[in-house]
Amino acid sequence: MINRNTIDEILNVTRVEEVVGDFVNLRKRGANYIALCPFHNEKTPSFNVSPAKGIYKCFGCGKGGDAIRFLMDHEQLSYPEALRWLADKYNIVIKEEAETPEDIARRDKRESLLVLNQFASRYYDQCLWQSEEGRNIGLNYFKERNFRESVIRKFQLGYAPASGAALSDEALAKGYQREYLLALGLSKEKDNGLRDFFRSRVVFPIHSLSGSVIAFGARTLSSDKKIPKYLNSPESEIYHKSKVLYGAFFAKSAMRQQDECLMVEGYTDVISLHQAGIENVVASSGTSLTHEQVRLVKRYTENVTILYDGDKAGVAAALRGLDIVLEEGLNVKVVVLPEGEDPDSFVQKEGSRVFLEYVKKEAKDFILLKTEMLREESRNDPVQKSKLIRDLVGSIALIPDPIKRALYTRECAVQMEVREQLLMNEVNKVIARKLGEQRKSSERAAREEEKMLEEQVQVNDDQRSERTEQQSNYYQERDVLRVLLEYGERKFDDENTVAGYVLGQCASYEFENAAFASIFRYFEEALERGETPRAEELSHHRDKEIQEAAVSLMSISREVSENWDKMHDIVVEEKEAIYRNDARSAVTRLLLRQVRREIEKNRKELVGEKDEERILLLLRVRQALKEQELKLTERLNTVIY
Ligand code: CTP
Ligand code: MN
Repeated sequence: MINRNTIDEILNVTRVEEVVGDFVNLRKRGANYIALCPFHNEKTPSFNVSPAKGIYKCFGCGKGGDAIRFLMDHEQLSYPEALRWLADKYNIVIKEEAETPEDIARRDKRESLLVLNQFASRYYDQCLWQSEEGRNIGLNYFKERNFRESVIRKFQLGYAPASGAALSDEALAKGYQREYLLALGLSKEKDNGLRDFFRSRVVFPIHSLSGSVIAFGARTLSSDKKIPKYLNSPESEIYHKSKVLYGAFFAKSAMRQQDECLMVEGYTDVISLHQAGIENVVASSGTSLTHEQVRLVKRYTENVTILYDGDKAGVAAALRGLDIVLEEGLNVKVVVLPEGEDPDSFVQKEGSRVFLEYVKKEAKDFILLKTEMLREESRNDPVQKSKLIRDLVGSIALIPDPIKRALYTRECAVQMEVREQLLMNEVNKVIARKLGEQRKSSERAAREEEKMLEEQVQVNDDQRSERTEQQSNYYQERDVLRVLLEYGERKFDDENTVAGYVLGQCASYEFENAAFASIFRYFEEALERGETPRAEELSHHRDKEIQEAAVSLMSISREVSENWDKMHDIVVEEKEAIYRNDARSAVTRLLLRQVRREIEKNRKELVGEKDEERILLLLRVRQALKEQELKLTERLNTVIY
């Protein structure tokens, strides 16, 4: 348990822009910073950080909060983990009450797993430096590979001893749970006992972006081909292989500073390059890249150079995995190292200056390299050639930026000796097909949402359940207020801001939720004075209820804009229309909900009514309500997504 004074101290020194800046490439804009949002995929920055207010907020997906919230959301840290992370960053000594075995048991699972990995990492570390076996075998091995002590320590390399269950036994004795040892893959069950998973291997801890050890890779020292060269931790609650790049924690600031990421295959490549002073380097760990990994790089730089070992198989593999990088809009270059070399051997042999010069000189644009290699392969074979052109067209079509796409189309046409127009038509066909599919699927999503809403209303009407009915209104009220907070001050039409439009439409609506009603009134009063309150004001509102409601409203994410951003070639005008549509549909849903409830009330009254005059009146009311309902449903249907 971290004590209260420490928490206050941490909060006092924490600067949101410094924390967010550790993970996101921030650009200064006035008093604030902007960036591409790390929580959703976007091409123009809508993620804002305000040092003055100590908060961040994405106007695209709606995520927002303070530095701690950022660490919790972005790094999936728990609250105490986030505090520890900050303490570490700002060199604050955490004062805490000593932990008893009960404390250890009580901690939540994720944190327990991280702590256990940390313990294991220290254990392997000690074995490497302090045990005779570790020094003789493990440390000696690293020395033979010319790894200096400083770099061994920096990467926290370790050694797993040959003995069957040394780590498992010590962990259990220290009160760590068997269940967690198994969950992390550090131990395996054997004859009712535990057996260490990593044995007689040198160990490479794998770090999260914030520097926690989340997994291990372990290399055998035996040259026996039957033994797997590397064993890796299995997936666990804290380790998702597809989201991790080895070395990213150590490469973050260098990637940003140099605005480039070097991508290699192996753990040892990363370490050797660091040792040579080249730090903007991460490893894919020998598997093909995933979208999440590419996005991770994209937070720091848009330029990726992939280094491949000097053999044909390596290059072929390189070209296969790369479409994903194009799709994320990065600039990709490929470097093929000299025959028989990998980055580790090459930099050790030649030193960093020659290495970097080579990389600079040999870096080939991915698509052009692909074109070049394909041209060689398909020389004088028209069937092969048309197949390969199709392949190229597919790659080019993935590039989000139309100008870049056009340049590539031209260059490839020249190289492949086909007419540029022909290639361009092919590329456009692929894009049109893709856009069509995307549009369809986002329309489908909107329709399904509508259907769900209808069904919900139906169910409510059928069951006449007051409770669900209220719950349903809650969401619609919430959505309307979210719109107010999110774009209240933007222009809606010639006369109105979005706030003006929303307030006008909902003037006669009575909010059920008390906090929402207060926020709505707050807006009404401000508007009467000719002001539009900003979300930030409300998030600092002294009324706790209003503040809480505002903050939670500010953090609701918006699916719509994500869908839009995913489409290529979005027209600016259309993008502008998104928030208007959003406002219109939120208001319409709320009013529609309201009208339907009144129709239901009216129906109930009609059933029980005997007085003929009353019945006539109720029927007229019903007619009017039905007309309103129809108008609103029509309006909902014409909201364009
Ligand atoms: N790898 C793996 N399992 C294997 C082989 C490789 O997980 N059986 C992953 C490791 O992450 C390794 C990377 O693929 O770092 C690249 O493999 P390789 O080039 O064989 O390993 P190096 O890291 O270069 O190791 P060394 O230099 O010791 O050969
Ligand atoms: Mn190697």
